[in-house]
Amino acid sequence: ESTTELDISAIEPGQAIKAVFRKQPVFVRNLTQREIDEANAVPLSSLRDPQSLEERTLEGRQNWLVTMGVCTHLGCVPLGAAEGEPRGEFGGYFCPCHGSHYDTAARIRKGPAPTNLEVPDYEFTSDTTILIG
Ligand code: FES
Repeated sequence: ESTTELDISAIEPGQAIKAVFRKQPVFVRNLTQREIDEANAVPLSSLRDPQSLEERTLEGRQNWLVTMGVCTHLGCVPLGAAEGEPRGEFGGYFCPCHGSHYDTAARIRKGPAPTNLEVPDYEFTSDTTILIG
């Protein structure tokens, strides 16, 4: 079992980074207050894979969205973690392979993906460092 430690101190609100965890892409995003509000405004009953942002983040750190960068449809790497990439109709991530749109909590909102982007096990080891795995 391998773990990945990441320095997240340089990720400004609205930005994300793409890293590697167990040979797969992982996204770490610092959500803006607006993106948090957008995610929290969505009724869970309207979601294909109902999960709140609160369930998908750690207590007191709701702005840090850590997910695998692997589309749950057929495994492409969604766009939206790197500067300038499209983030899709719901402002989160967009998988160009077959058009899956994820929202600001990386929940599937449109397109063929069956489930939300997976949240790996992780913890904060300091205010600016996370340990995934
Ligand atoms: Fe992402 Fe098909 S692999 S939409």
